[in-house]
Amino acid sequence: SIDLSTFTKQTGMTTLDYGFVNTAATKSNITYIDGDQGILRYRGYPIEQVAKGLSFLEVSWLLIYGEVPTESELEDFDRRIRRHTLLHEDLKRFFDGLPHQAHPMSVLSSGVSALSTYYQDSLDPTNPEHVEISTLRLLAKMPVMAAYAHKKSVGQAFLYPDNSLSFVDNFLRLNFGTMAEPYEVNPVVSSALERLLILHADHEQNASTSTVRLVGSTQANMFASISAGINALFGPLHGGANEAVLSMLGDIQASGEGVAKYVERVKNKEAGVKLMGFGHRVYKNYDPRAKLVKESADEVLEALGVHDDLLEIAKELEQIALADDYFKERRLYPNVDFYTGVIYKAMGFPTRMFTVLFAIGRLPGWIAHWREMTSDPQTKIGRPQQLYLGHAARDLPSAQ
Ligand code: ACO
Repeated sequence: SIDLSTFTKQTGMTTLDYGFVNTAATKSNITYIDGDQGILRYRGYPIEQVAKGLSFLEVSWLLIYGEVPTESELEDFDRRIRRHTLLHEDLKRFFDGLPHQAHPMSVLSSGVSALSTYYQDSLDPTNPEHVEISTLRLLAKMPVMAAYAHKKSVGQAFLYPDNSLSFVDNFLRLNFGTMAEPYEVNPVVSSALERLLILHADHEQNASTSTVRLVGSTQANMFASISAGINALFGPLHGGANEAVLSMLGDIQASGEGVAKYVERVKNKEAGVKLMGFGHRVYKNYDPRAKLVKESADEVLEALGVHDDLLEIAKELEQIALADDYFKERRLYPNVDFYTGVIYKAMGFPTRMFTVLFAIGRLPGWIAHWREMTSDPQTKIGRPQQLYLGHAARDLPSAQ
């Protein structure tokens, strides 16, 4: 049994809050969510307007610096990021040394962590110039590393970035271009990817962002903190859900059992059976990002002339789940990841790249939170309490 009186005496006013369901770890000015109403705003702007009206670099600036950039601010930001897209040649050999069957998320987190080894002279979180250059380096280099993780997994040569291309087009070329022929960007794919990155760009104190903040609260450098965030994102209950959704849809298709049967198994809580891409800690209403992603899924597949039975299975799953009391009572709705996988697949990305794409999108959010935290004089090292339930003091047999 839990002796709460002892616990309170030891630590003062303390709450035991598994999963931090009711505990705010910080104040923040970046992103607002109303989970009951299904509202998401970046710096006050509704996600619906942001996703349709701004580019990913504009959103990055907005999250990091607080306002929509002016034309000249954006131009300057873009130019400075382009200057940092090349990776150190040794870093390419570092990628070469990793096994080709490695998961691209593991490759990406290793690469971002390795950045601390190349830029040892600019890692001080208390030095604004170091913070600024680390911001640019991450925004410029992480997409290149993500594309290398992809190329590595399919056994193709890495390409050098082409700085004449926009952020998203450069990323697409690095992923899908080859040494053999020029790469033509498909504008449908480019604008859909831009929108998906924006929809993932921040989501206040989610598990990966909280990880970035916790690691950063020790005054670890930005690369180390964000590498930790990438690892937190990897799990199937967080960013890894987009990959898990596609596996689930594929399994339903392959088993031939039908969607309704699968939903029954979810409701019976069969071991390991969940409706992936459904449910959210904060949203108890339709995730506003999922609405926009669903719209995109139809548009993109139609524009690319792709028919995918998995999209039909996803829609049927959604329809059955939303009408079912199990999901209604628990207020479970599709989250941002329910439909993204179908779009990424239509674009040509392998399933194991899906969470990497989430990481590229979430990068400006992580940076914004890390910077907000390190510049807040009230920040303290993150250090939760525990409720100790182990042995009382006792003697080793040799001391008795
Ligand atoms: N399928 C079936 N049942 C579910 C699901 C689901 N996807 N999600 C929650 N439930 C049920 C739980 O079993 C629980 O039921 P119970 O009260 O009978 O025990 C109830 O709903 C509450 O669920 P919790 O797990 O307590 O909710 P929590 O807030 O801790 O978890 C989470 C949120 C992790 C997102 C959960 O909904 C889940 O596992 N979803 C599937 C994975 C997923 O899609 N993750 C992506 C989240 S969004 C993101 O990171 C971008």
